[in-house]
Amino acid sequence: MNEPRDPSASYPPAEPPPQRRDTPPAGSVRPVSSAPANVPPARDPLDPADGPANAPTARPPAVRANVAVPARFEPQPPVSAVPHQAAPEVTVTPSDTPQASGYGDEVDASTYVSRETPTREEDDPPLAMEAMRAVQILNPSGEVTMPRPDRTRVMCVANQKGGVGKTTTTVNLAVALALHGNRVLVVDLDPQGNASTGLNVPHHTGVPDVYDCLIDSVPLEEVAQAVEGIPNLWCVPATIDLAGAEIELVSVVARESRLARAIAAYPGHFDYVFIDCPPSLGLLTVNALVAAQEVLIPIQCEYYALEGLNQLINNINLVRQHLNPKLEVSTILLTMYDRRTRLADAVEQDVRNHFGDKVLQAVIPRNVRVSEAPSYGQSVMTYDPGSRGATSYFEAAQEIAERGVKEPVSRNA
Ligand SMILES: Nc1ncnc2c1ncn2[C@@H]1O[C@H](COP(=O)(O)OP(=O)(O)OP(=O)(O)O)[C@@H](O)[C@H]1O
Ligand SMILES: [Mg+2]
Repeated sequence: MNEPRDPSASYPPAEPPPQRRDTPPAGSVRPVSSAPANVPPARDPLDPADGPANAPTARPPAVRANVAVPARFEPQPPVSAVPHQAAPEVTVTPSDTPQASGYGDEVDASTYVSRETPTREEDDPPLAMEAMRAVQILNPSGEVTMPRPDRTRVMCVANQKGGVGKTTTTVNLAVALALHGNRVLVVDLDPQGNASTGLNVPHHTGVPDVYDCLIDSVPLEEVAQAVEGIPNLWCVPATIDLAGAEIELVSVVARESRLARAIAAYPGHFDYVFIDCPPSLGLLTVNALVAAQEVLIPIQCEYYALEGLNQLINNINLVRQHLNPKLEVSTILLTMYDRRTRLADAVEQDVRNHFGDKVLQAVIPRNVRVSEAPSYGQSVMTYDPGSRGATSYFEAAQEIAERGVKEPVSRNA
């Protein structure tokens, strides 16, 4: 039943306040390329670095212990990866000063840098500025180099277990290496197209993709796209068409080596080619294993982490025996490490005992910034370069680069 109207109320009723033009309508989808300037990112309840759920502001990102991040950047020596751009200034204003997180790590305002506190000029910086800013935060003095290998390293990022961080690892290592002067190609070999999404490369139906290379022998250079804002980085996208490739490949000549041929025929010289595999051991993954010299296996620090690995190792051995004698498991990366659990420690010990020095010293923590970044079409390296996720991937990339040269290059070179 209707309530009687309040006679004192004016009629017609006052108009609702006009909506801000920039307020997105309810249910609208934010374009992936524009990061929000003033909306604090969601918290990861599992990540102590993100502070308690009711903390008033986001906790500042942790910065590697040996890297002092200046609150206001002084002009830096030119960075070889992005030599033509002026260094953006990041200033800390009193209102930006973060609250202590309540975890005993008092925040020093003079070292606080975060994307949650942009200056007015930085409200929506172009992607190239984000990349420049990332290099300055991750490597402020420019002392860390990522030496270029003397031959192309083709690395297949594989684990048939789903959701262990294959795509996240591919995208972030590729961006870290490219930001430090390496020429990098990412081949998205997963019909889900997550690596293409993470690099903000168009991959809707109709876009030329890796399917065309595998099935119709289209040269890779015709489908590779430059990644916006990241110099030296290209991506061969995957569209949903690739879902049919596994079956279509069965009747194609030399079906296991289609990708190997395409990569070998690519005229551009790359330092790294990362192939992001789907979570299966089908023909797509076999193509990646035949094309690569190295396998990088991300292992999630969870129960069941090692289950199924034997099957992957057996497949790698079979490919080595019959199709690609150069193939080796060169790198194991522990991902989504939760330092609060004993389980993560136990998994780490197991993996290190089993794989020895193939396991990188850098371990990727579970970190909410890592999982947020793809929804903005960015890697965590540019989305929040000061976060623990970014600094860990930076360290992993550095280790991979140093392992790739026979005589490690001095960091001060
Ligand atoms: N270090 C991390 N901290 C928090 N979340 C993470 C981290 N690494 C990955 N994730 C999230 O975990 C999910 C799975 O990661 P990702 O897609 O990289 O795994 P994958 O092995 O490629 O999965 P698939 O097998 O489906 O291809 C994603 O939502 C990703 O954002
Ligand atoms: Mg994936």
